[in-house]
Amino acid sequence: MNKTATANKKHYEKVMMLSKRRGFIWGPSPEIFGGLSGFYSYGPLGKIIKNNVEELIQKWLWINGFWEVDAPTVSPEIVWISSGHVEGFIDPIVRCTKCKTVYRADKLIEEFAPNIHTSGKSFEELTKIIEEKNIQCPKCGGKLGEVTGYNLMMKTTIGLDTTGYLRPETATTTYIMFKRLHAFFREKLPSKVFQIGKAYRNEISPRQGVLRLREFTQGEAQTFILPEQEHDFADFKKIENEKLPLLPYKIQMEDREDIQNISLREAIDLGYLEKEAYAWHIWVAYKIYEMLGIPKKRFRLRQHLPDERAHYAKDAWDIEFLTQDFGWVELCGVHDRGDYDLSRHQKYSKQKMLVRSSKGKEVPHVLEIAFGIDRTIYALLEANYVKDDVREWLRLPAFIAPIQIAVFPLMKKDGLDAKAKEVYRTLRQTEFRVVYDEDGSIGKRYRRMDEVGTPFEVTIDYQTLEDGTVTIRDRDTMEQHRVKIEELTKEFKKLIQNPLENLAKQMI
Ligand code: GLY
Repeated sequence: MNKTATANKKHYEKVMMLSKRRGFIWGPSPEIFGGLSGFYSYGPLGKIIKNNVEELIQKWLWINGFWEVDAPTVSPEIVWISSGHVEGFIDPIVRCTKCKTVYRADKLIEEFAPNIHTSGKSFEELTKIIEEKNIQCPKCGGKLGEVTGYNLMMKTTIGLDTTGYLRPETATTTYIMFKRLHAFFREKLPSKVFQIGKAYRNEISPRQGVLRLREFTQGEAQTFILPEQEHDFADFKKIENEKLPLLPYKIQMEDREDIQNISLREAIDLGYLEKEAYAWHIWVAYKIYEMLGIPKKRFRLRQHLPDERAHYAKDAWDIEFLTQDFGWVELCGVHDRGDYDLSRHQKYSKQKMLVRSSKGKEVPHVLEIAFGIDRTIYALLEANYVKDDVREWLRLPAFIAPIQIAVFPLMKKDGLDAKAKEVYRTLRQTEFRVVYDEDGSIGKRYRRMDEVGTPFEVTIDYQTLEDGTVTIRDRDTMEQHRVKIEELTKEFKKLIQNPLENLAKQMI
């Protein structure tokens, strides 16, 4: 989250009000007990979107050669000592000496002194900045104390007395299966796996609603690869001319934010990216956002500054979404983790993680794509939220919309309702998500569907009884065209296309 985190949350509130009213996202949970920041629930419509986003990621990764695994979310402390999270997964915090409220020190500085870079700064340096800039407690105006460290992992007790942690990322729980995975893949590299599941971070005082969760869902893909395979990667050659909106750190170092719309090959030639395999992972991640239809001008790929990277990362690029209220927000991180993880797990578990290579035996490297599923869903809602003179509605892509077709009788009489139910029952047998609604005026029913992003409504009117045709209303244009009932399924197959299928065809 960037420097404008304190901006007034007008647009965010509008999106969330609709989300709460119409059953997308509820919270903070548990609502009837007052709610706890950083925890949200998906209502029935939100859960369908979540399933759809997860399925898109799942299928896209599968097409690109990744196999899915599923590991426990709780592990004993040794796992997280080994991964470096006990030591390195630390946020700087500062406490008000008067009211005792605790803040993320770096975020507070960014709010009050937006020109100051906080990444990579020591606790002492952050304390000094707070003093020099005279930053006080936003709540009571009291003096702030010294900056200290705070581990972000959620601790638990396993059984009577074994310390455990809820995983702060799925990635580590994939790495510790490496020996099993390597045998599964008959010792061939690169090998590719992913997990979709919950992760937990004990954020100190999350103040950005669904954009900073303490419990969240990640979709994380890992490629185990030999260093010698990273520079000459066959799949890269197929996509090397694709242009991506890149913001390399070298540009940021010049205090510039102009996006370089260049091909991945050019990015390598210019030294923005080093390895073909890593560049390919960036492309794989980027394609998801393109398929989700988030407008190009609202996302970019920003490389981390060297002092901003996580403890395991040699290189890191984030796919960021431009929110109206909070500025650029990370939706997905692509990390070159080198041999950091497997070397550490080899050391702490005393189990060999070596594989055969032309140099003899080596610890494989890891390239990672980490999708934040919840933020991606929020981005989808925000990017598609529209309030105009006539309507408040969601322009969701048809393949993602929780309800794809609503069937209405023009009126609840004269046999229109019976005919509409018949059409509804037929459409429910197809692959589409269909509902039936006969309550209220037809205008109100259209609005209700617009509000939840339903792209098409089928209306049964008096002409239907005469000639067997119905109207299909298009949510975006509000225009209608007539189709024979027997041709509805064929028509919707044409109207509701999954971009993944088109992309997969191009890749053959
Ligand atoms: N596994 C990397 C992340 O959680 O961002």
